[in-house]
Amino acid sequence: MYNDNPTLKDLNARTIDETAQGQVYSEAVSALAPEPTGKQFYIESYGCQMNFSDSEIVASILGEAGYAPTRDLEGADLILINTCSIREKAEDTVRKRLRVFDKVKRRRPGTMVGVLGCMAERLKAKFLEEEKLVDLVVGPDAYRDLPGLVAGAEEGEKGVNVFLSREETYADINPLRLQSNGVTAFISIMRGCDNMCSFCVVPYTRGRERSRNAYSIVAEATDLFQRGFREVTLLGQNVDSYKWTHPETGERVTFAALLEMVAQVDPKLRIRFSTSHPKDITDEVLYTMRDHENICKYIHLPVQSGNSRILDLMNRTYDREWYRKKVDRIYEIMPDCAISSDIITGFCSETEEEHRDTLSMVDYARYTMSYMFFYSERPGTPAARKLTDDVPLEVKKRRLQEIIDLQTTISDERNRADIGTTFTVLIEGESKRSDADWKGRNTQNKMVIFPRLAGTAPGDYVSVTITDATSATLLGNQVS
Ligand code: SAH
Ligand code: SF4
Ligand code: F3S
Repeated sequence: MYNDNPTLKDLNARTIDETAQGQVYSEAVSALAPEPTGKQFYIESYGCQMNFSDSEIVASILGEAGYAPTRDLEGADLILINTCSIREKAEDTVRKRLRVFDKVKRRRPGTMVGVLGCMAERLKAKFLEEEKLVDLVVGPDAYRDLPGLVAGAEEGEKGVNVFLSREETYADINPLRLQSNGVTAFISIMRGCDNMCSFCVVPYTRGRERSRNAYSIVAEATDLFQRGFREVTLLGQNVDSYKWTHPETGERVTFAALLEMVAQVDPKLRIRFSTSHPKDITDEVLYTMRDHENICKYIHLPVQSGNSRILDLMNRTYDREWYRKKVDRIYEIMPDCAISSDIITGFCSETEEEHRDTLSMVDYARYTMSYMFFYSERPGTPAARKLTDDVPLEVKKRRLQEIIDLQTTISDERNRADIGTTFTVLIEGESKRSDADWKGRNTQNKMVIFPRLAGTAPGDYVSVTITDATSATLLGNQVS
């Protein structure tokens, strides 16, 4: 989900230009670009799924303005980089890519370079001073302005729009599925974040929380299903606090109600969602998941730390006991539900004993997987202003390694326990290692690899019996 993390090897860690889906890509574009300008844009994305989803909105907006996407960096008229500020390393990666774009621009004068996303929002016009060759700086709520800013930049004006909106949800924009495997897609259901986790830059880069029109979400899911997609992931920083009121009828839609509405699009459409803040996930959501076969039994429930004093400093608004009860409740209502987490090691003043509380929480929750990071202070956040980043880097890294080792052991155990079980798997495409194998996921979001049988295709649901497992993948054979 966060592509500066070296422990992560999933699809989302790849940049758009690395995909091999040229077919879907160009077809979608020709349908969307009624009056091509002959100009091409190249876009690379970093950070969370929201950013990847935003790049698809940007591609759609530029497509309407006559720009066609290209995966050829050297041939592009407009190079865009959709950036992440979550940790220092994420920003370093972006700066390195900008050096590469500078070289392209020198070779091809006239090429424009635009910085989008969270780093654009954080650094604003400072970007233009720091990075002389950047022509555009556009924040996450200003993408509708891109065609105008690009036109201005063609006339030699440097364009900046980092206005954060209280209303923008891009509800009416039909995203251009850039990275598409034709089976799974993201749908943004809300933007921004009103929580104030003290370590986190997102409330400053993404602005206030706002929920998108529920009917536009259902319409997007229906359209995807009709085009052959079989799985949608509803995205937001805190999906469980989704709330939308119909402006005319006054009908109120909660996250549980939205889940139900999307689940009813078709029983053959799988629903996933991310991220759930532990404080907001309700029994109503858990019951809705339990009652609908097509809502996947998987919850990403970041704990961040297993120690109550650290959780308080992080302003997570729950403590260790409260989180444990939430985990208990999930397993009580859905014994087969998988839970995953995000964990930060070495937060300000964390002691060895407090770190051990995080280890014991990983053990308690039996996460199927976690995204694990050491704390990286972000300028302007409450932690940067009020707390001291006093855990030495080597201690942060050693604690991180301990968490990774434990999580790997638990993932391995949990996957081995699946040997002999038969799962329904949605085929997503060829396995990376061999075109003789399919890859797909079961409801718990576990990746399953199995030999492809004649007559099967991406988008099919098949039954696979698990014969072997690693900490990252299940291996099996199709039985029907
Ligand atoms: N909205 C999601 C998380 C978004 S950020 C949630 O509330 O869970 C993704 C993850 O990055 C966070 O869960 C956290 O584990 C990590 N993260 C955020 N800020 C960080 C920082 N300053 N240093 C290290 N990791 C951080
Ligand atoms: Fe950041 Fe907390 Fe909001 Fe997640 S819930 S985006 S960690 S402030
Ligand atoms: Fe990064 Fe912004 Fe997402 S900071 S994690 S791209 S919301």
